[in-house]
Amino acid sequence: MPLDLTPVPHELRGLRIALLVAGGIAAYKLVDLASALTQAGSQVRVAMTPSATRFVGAPSFRGVTGNPVLTGLWAPGGAPEPHVFLGDWAQLVLLAPATANVIGRIANGQSDDIVTATVLASRSPVVVAPAMNDAMWSKQAVRDNIATLRERGMTVVEPESGHLASGHVGAGRLAASAQLLEAMASAVRSRYDLAGRRVVVTAGGTREPIDPVRFISNYSSGKMGFAIASAAAERGARVVLVTTASHPAHNGVDVRPVETADEMLAELRAQLEGADLLVMAAAVADFRPAKVSGSKIRREETSHLTLDLEPIPDLLATVGREKGGAGVFRVGFAAEGSDLDAKALEKMKKKGLQAIVANDISRKDVGFGSDHNEGVILFADGTRQEIERMTKRAMADRILDLVGPRLDLRGDVPPQGGGPGEASSRRTPLNR
Ligand code: CTP
Repeated sequence: MPLDLTPVPHELRGLRIALLVAGGIAAYKLVDLASALTQAGSQVRVAMTPSATRFVGAPSFRGVTGNPVLTGLWAPGGAPEPHVFLGDWAQLVLLAPATANVIGRIANGQSDDIVTATVLASRSPVVVAPAMNDAMWSKQAVRDNIATLRERGMTVVEPESGHLASGHVGAGRLAASAQLLEAMASAVRSRYDLAGRRVVVTAGGTREPIDPVRFISNYSSGKMGFAIASAAAERGARVVLVTTASHPAHNGVDVRPVETADEMLAELRAQLEGADLLVMAAAVADFRPAKVSGSKIRREETSHLTLDLEPIPDLLATVGREKGGAGVFRVGFAAEGSDLDAKALEKMKKKGLQAIVANDISRKDVGFGSDHNEGVILFADGTRQEIERMTKRAMADRILDLVGPRLDLRGDVPPQGGGPGEASSRRTPLNR
C-alpha cells in the first residue's frame, strides 16, 4: 500500500520519535515515513550513519521533518553529546533500515557512531526493522544477533520476501510502512499508557500582589505538580504545566509560568480545550487584596496597614462549568488538617470533580516542601485508595495508575450550582 494511504496510528501522533537510519538502499523509503509521521503530528528527529548519508542526503530528512539531522557524534553546532540528547528526548526509537553490520554492533553494545550510540543511550522502546540481502539475513550470526535484540526487549519487524536490490528474490526487503507503523504503535501502547492524551497540570502557590514588591502566597513548593507533569510526560502524554514554581521538569513538558490565580485561570482556559485530564495540584489563593497599590507602600506613610481581601473564584469549579473544562477528567487536591475523607468528599462534590487526592497538612514529614507525600485518593465512582508514604514522584505514578484507566469512563458530576456549557460539552471516548 502506498504510504500516503497508510493511516498513522493515533498513538504516534504528538510522540517524539528518533528515526535512526543505517546504510542500506531502503534508506530512501524512510524519507516518506518521516514525512507521513511529521504530517500526522509526530515530532521526528533523524540520525544517520555515515554510510546512510551515501544513500540519502541529510537535507531530505531535514526538509520533511523540519529538524536538524545528526550525522555524527561530533555534529557541528549540535549538543555536546548529541546521542545522549536524542536518547533522552525520544519516546520511541525506530532503527531502519537495520543492516547486518549495525545489528551486530548493537547486539554487542558498541556505540561508535550516532546511530548505535543513540540506541545505547535511549530510554524508550526500540523498534528495529532489518533490511539486507537474503543470504546475509539467513546467516546464523545475524539470526543470533536478532535473537539477542529481542531478548533485550527490542521489537524486531521481520523483513519481507520479494525483489531485492541485489537482483535476488528472497527475504530481506524492509517491511512495508504499514507494518512499521503498527509495530511502533504496539511498542508505544505497551510502554506508554497515556500516549495520545493531553494532560494539564497546575503547580505551586499563587502569588496575589499587594504592591509591586509584595504578595500574599502560601507554603506550596510545587513539587507534587512537577512530579505529576513529569510522570505523565514519561507515560507518553502531551503535558502542559501551568505553574508559579520552578523546578526541573521532564523535557517533554510544556511549562507555562504564571503568578496569580487570575493568570492561572486564563492559562487553564487556553489549555483545557481538547484536554483529557486536569490535575490541579496548585495551591490557589482563596483571597487576594481587593486593591493593589500601584507603587510600593512606604513604612513612613502608614503607621498601621489593614489589607482588605476579596474572595477568588474557585478555579476548578469555574472551569468545570465551562465548555473547555466540562468534558475533562478533573482531579483536585485537598489539603486538610482533620477528617481527611469527609472533607475531601465534600470538596469533590462541591467542585464537581472525578477524583480528589487528600493529604494531611498537620504532618511535618510529608506534604508542603517535602519530597515525600502520603494521602488518600477518592473517586466519584466510590473507589477509595490509600497512598502510603512515598516520594512525590512515586505518588504521581500511583495517581496516574489509578486515573489513566478511568479517563474514558468518567462519570459526569457537575460542580454544585450548575452553570452554562455543561450538558452540551460532554465528550465520549468516540468523539474524544
Ligand atoms: N482550588 C481552586 N481554586 C481556588 C482554591 C482552590 O481551584 N481558588 C483547588 C486547588 O487547586 C485544589 C482544590 O481546589 O485542587 C482544593 O484546594 P483546598 O485549598 O484544599 O480547598 P479550598 O477549596 O480552597 O477550601 P479550604 O481552603 O476552605 O479548605
